Amino acid sequence: MSTSATPPTSHAKLLAWVEKVKALCAPDDVYWCDGSEEEYDRLCAEMVESGTLIKLNQEKRPGCFLARSDPDDVARVEDRTFICTENVEDAGPTNNWTNPGEMRRTLNGLFTGCMKGRTLYVIPYSMGPLGSPIAHIGVQITDSAYAVVNMKIMARMGRGVLDVLGDDGDFVPCLHSVGAPLEAGQQDAIWPCNDTKYIVHFPESREIWSFGSGYGGNALLGKKCFALRIASAMAKDEGWLAEHMLILGLESPEGEKTYVAAAFPSACGKTNLAMLIPPQGLDGWKVWTVGDDIAWIKPGKDGKFHAINPEAGYFGVAPGTSMKSNPSAMKMLDKNCIFTNVAMTDDGDVWWEEMDGPLPDHLIDWRGNDWTPDSKTPAAHPNARFTAPAAQCPSIDPAWNDPAGVPISAFIFGGRLSKTFPLVFQSFDWSHGVYLAATMGSEATAAAVNQADIRRDPMAMLPFCGYNMAEYWRHWLNIEDRITDLPLIFRVNWFRKDENGKFMWPGFGENMRVLKWIVDRVHDRAHAVESPFGMMPRHQDIVWQGLDYDAETFFKLMEVDRDAGLAEAEGQKELFKRFGAHLPKEMELQRELLIERLDRAPKVWKLAG
Ligand code: OXD
Ligand code: MN
Repeated sequence: MSTSATPPTSHAKLLAWVEKVKALCAPDDVYWCDGSEEEYDRLCAEMVESGTLIKLNQEKRPGCFLARSDPDDVARVEDRTFICTENVEDAGPTNNWTNPGEMRRTLNGLFTGCMKGRTLYVIPYSMGPLGSPIAHIGVQITDSAYAVVNMKIMARMGRGVLDVLGDDGDFVPCLHSVGAPLEAGQQDAIWPCNDTKYIVHFPESREIWSFGSGYGGNALLGKKCFALRIASAMAKDEGWLAEHMLILGLESPEGEKTYVAAAFPSACGKTNLAMLIPPQGLDGWKVWTVGDDIAWIKPGKDGKFHAINPEAGYFGVAPGTSMKSNPSAMKMLDKNCIFTNVAMTDDGDVWWEEMDGPLPDHLIDWRGNDWTPDSKTPAAHPNARFTAPAAQCPSIDPAWNDPAGVPISAFIFGGRLSKTFPLVFQSFDWSHGVYLAATMGSEATAAAVNQADIRRDPMAMLPFCGYNMAEYWRHWLNIEDRITDLPLIFRVNWFRKDENGKFMWPGFGENMRVLKWIVDRVHDRAHAVESPFGMMPRHQDIVWQGLDYDAETFFKLMEVDRDAGLAEAEGQKELFKRFGAHLPKEMELQRELLIERLDRAPKVWKLAG
């Protein structure tokens, strides 16, 4: 173990920061993580000993562990998430804001002595392949060994990162504490945390302070806090994009590879789409996974955008994952994973709702209680997670670790919308595409019936944009000039329903048919017709082989209802109004152009049969 007496770096700024945090938080010990397997195994063994981890059946799930969190610490806490800029306008109306001085006073109070009785772990980590020009480095200080082992899976961490950092490289300081100091002799909780929670970002000084939670994005600070909130602010200043997007490689039977990046709000099946298996009729196609959640995208010298997945693992929602919904994910979960808040079978394996196979007669639920099929509560928490190494994904793209990233040819934006929005359409141009992305959203509930119930989630970044959302749109508009080979922009909606409440698209597994049209558009070999919303495929532009799907249903799925479209345009006004003078004029112009196109359209615009 390296103690504070022997830090493995001579990076003066890093050393000074660790000393400062040590003085503030008063840990018993300081430990610099080297990122080795030996270290991971040792920390897991210590947590098994203390009860924080349960070793699962090693024959069925070699190298796998289960953690059960405190029942009050089970998800990201958006209402406790803050963006602290000097000026309230720079955080914008969609973020919680507090004055940085005031917030620093609060945090200094909370962090004083907060690591008493605990070890302070220093985790140097790289978001993205080590040394990649698209990657950036963070250093997380935490008093949670659970956070350390999860960070080992989710990011490249340890000694190699300090080598890249050298004596004066840039890093984002990320301070995390579960906020549960231990008095001498006090028994530790299995999942220490604090009722008071603060997930705080200072985008101007590029700092993260997280207090009180040990769970997911609250505690694994490389993910949402750094890779989205802080990185989005860095990207704005430096001319690149940090996005809540999965990255896919689509390979044709002829071996042509096209990469696309896609943004969907949380709970729209992003991990499943990232690991899609092409359906019958498109069997020659392969879908390769680069990332399932976040993309960092920088302009390359070749005039194209190049993207990396800054993460090295998947922190996915377990319930709903099955051999039917996502066979690749199920295979990825065979070994070396940490499961949090799933249920445990009597033979020490994992279980969650909608998993394959018969319902077990008896389980231990996520709270550690007996569970039977008669129980009234779910066995796994609905936000139960797996932490899995990306390299274990059977569809992992051979280039996923390439420091140069992969070239992006299209951006896809989608939400969960039961009405109004057709299956797919392409923007007329870049600025229209930015508008389509900015106005996307999902219905608050499946039962939502009117436009007001759309939770607008621009670019799926509502909880993740580290600055004023309208300035983020401006950044997207401006980036057009930095790229000569611009990606095409598409909107998709897998969730439109008919008048009987039935989904009109036959299912998630068929989405490759839409992706293929998108790829064909990229390569300029597919037709499209103009609709009031955007450019659409005709029936004959989609491959239907292997699927018995009525053409009439497709035409209905693609319809544009004038009144519904106008109500949508009206609803967008509410969103735009919130940003006042920050709203780029292009946004309102695009809204007016949509109204004009709808005014000229028939009451129900239909694709020609
Ligand atoms: C996630 C989210 O967990 O978007 O990825 O909420
Ligand atoms: Mn996400």
